Amino acid sequence: MKKTILEMLRSAGGKFVSGEGIAEKLDVSRTAIWKHIQSLRKRGYKISSSERLGYKLDDTPDLMLPEIVQYGLRTKIIGADSRIVYKNSVESTNELAKKLAYDGAADGTIVISEEQTGGKGRLARNFFSPKEKGLWFSVILRPQCLPKDAPKFTLMAAVAVAQAMEKFNLRAGIKWPNDILFDGKKLVGILTEMSAEIGHVNYIVIGIGINVNVRREEFPADIREIATSLSEMAGENLNRVEFFRAVLEELDKLYIENNFDEVFKIWRKYNITLGEKVTVLSAESGEIFTGLAVDIDAEGALIVDSGGEKKIVYAGDVSIRPAK
Ligand code: BTN
Repeated sequence: MKKTILEMLRSAGGKFVSGEGIAEKLDVSRTAIWKHIQSLRKRGYKISSSERLGYKLDDTPDLMLPEIVQYGLRTKIIGADSRIVYKNSVESTNELAKKLAYDGAADGTIVISEEQTGGKGRLARNFFSPKEKGLWFSVILRPQCLPKDAPKFTLMAAVAVAQAMEKFNLRAGIKWPNDILFDGKKLVGILTEMSAEIGHVNYIVIGIGINVNVRREEFPADIREIATSLSEMAGENLNRVEFFRAVLEELDKLYIENNFDEVFKIWRKYNITLGEKVTVLSAESGEIFTGLAVDIDAEGALIVDSGGEKKIVYAGDVSIRPAK
């Protein structure tokens, strides 16, 4: 019933809807309607009321509730239908997404939380995920592909975020494989995990953390100088729901197209790694080496020319050193 009331208020486009009209349509008392309005207000909806005119929706909370995110969301798979799992607080959306995926959650299911108490980064690092300041979410994908192809979806996710930023007039720089930076500082981190057997991927969980409205002084001291947020970049706060919808729509398009030549082409456009001198910490061997980042291969692995030797990095950490 709450959903229908919300629908009626929304479709009135900022005009008053009579309480009597809603009550009649739903065949309940005006008191029942008033109670639902109260509970919507508790959830953060700003609704004005007038004895004579009824109710008017003034503002929707900037929360990731499915009923809010899905309003006007144009996706076919990602977060579509009932494929959004919402939490006010969770340890890690990736951990929850993996459990749900194991239990059979559908392709394109998203787990989003207003905060994470134990957000996970790559290479066993923590990921700072403060309440209602960013987008901390995981996407469950079930592509028909080989395990070796899974990393490509991480690049796809980075491209989706970069394209969403473009819609907000913000230009992203992607550092291989998928950190998004502005002015050398990190805005977005992506952590991909998967369950696979030889020759078959069961599911991929792509965890995306986007610092949307985190202020400089809110970052913990140890990352204050190396992290930034979209609001810092834009000089004003962003509406998280609108940005989230943009990311989901971009990802949905790329996922349905399944055209990695195109994904790599766009990735190259935003990349800030290729052509740079880099220091690489290989996640496979633990080796640290330097070289020139030359290209990415067909699997999205980084090709580095290290003193004439061509090294392929499948997973690891790259720092860009200013070329001398
Ligand atoms: C990194 O840059 O090291 C990757 C960070 C990934 C963070 C996201 S936030 C949502 C999802 N849940 C997690 O616990 N981690 C990822």
